[in-house]
Amino acid sequence: MLLVTPGADRRRGPLRAGDQVQLTDPKGRMHTITLEPARQFHTHKGILEHDSLLGGPEGVVVMIGGTAYLALRPLLSDYVLSMPRGAQVVYPKDAGSIVQMADIFPGAHVVEAGVGSGALSMSLLRAVGESGRLTSYERRAEFAEIAVANVERFFGGPHPAWTVKVGDLVTALNETDVDRVVLDMLAPWEVVDAVSAALRPGGLVCCYLATTTQLSATVETLRSHGTFTEPQSWESLVRGWHVEGLAVRPEHRMVGHTGFLCTARRLADGVQPPVRRRRPSKGAPAEPGASPERAEPLRPELP
Ligand SMILES: C[S@@+](CC[C@H](N)C(=O)[O-])C[C@H]1O[C@@H](n2cnc3c(N)ncnc32)[C@H](O)[C@@H]1O
Repeated sequence: MLLVTPGADRRRGPLRAGDQVQLTDPKGRMHTITLEPARQFHTHKGILEHDSLLGGPEGVVVMIGGTAYLALRPLLSDYVLSMPRGAQVVYPKDAGSIVQMADIFPGAHVVEAGVGSGALSMSLLRAVGESGRLTSYERRAEFAEIAVANVERFFGGPHPAWTVKVGDLVTALNETDVDRVVLDMLAPWEVVDAVSAALRPGGLVCCYLATTTQLSATVETLRSHGTFTEPQSWESLVRGWHVEGLAVRPEHRMVGHTGFLCTARRLADGVQPPVRRRRPSKGAPAEPGASPERAEPLRPELP
């Protein structure tokens, strides 16, 4: 099988056969096409010859009928929102948080479940790079198939760091010394034993959860497992802004909720997390019999 370099050469230079191009009309409506010699793209406005783009730069304006379309290679964030979906995808803002807060580094050995539509897999693959390893588990073969097609279309072929395994993470996970485990699945609390066994000391588990009940079950299971540091949980909200002349204000509409994130680090075997002692804040009511200091599990501050 031909392994392509999924790097910069796919993302720059003159437009070539097989490249994806996003055409955006003046109203912001988008069409994504894959360039092929002698092929045409038809809209109700008219016809575009793919040859008129092939060999030229991106960032150009092409006319279809009387309408001007901007032609650009899609960004990864554009691509994941327009690609075919099996399962709901991780949104780009959350994929960005996961890469940063789960500290996905070049060369890392990362395990992911489930693979769904492959959206998060692409961000993880970019972060681990060709020298890393991403093993993605998915229990539904039809979703794995969609994900593989999406990822290969984006990178222009199989990514050398990626292995997809069809199966349930609980029974199929047989890797050890893993640096990071990223879970986007219905019931991550059911796989905590398997994740703990796979992670190396100092490794990190990161869970993406849609609801507060899932967040609570996951955090409580990690906390009581005894092999993890105190879990940290958060969500991020991204609000677009309308900026035009003096009309500078938040957009009226936003995506209000996507999911919660939670991370915890794997302790070395047999280690108890240290307990941090803190003075109660000024004015906090004294509890009967309480010492002047409060004991809390060690919890690094979130930025
Ligand atoms: C929301 S989707 C994942 C979406 C994916 N992160 C993306 O960005 O495209 C959740 C997936 O987890 C899979 N899944 C749930 N439990 C699993 C398990 N125990 N082992 C493997 N896959 C699992 C489901 O079949 C589903 O495809």
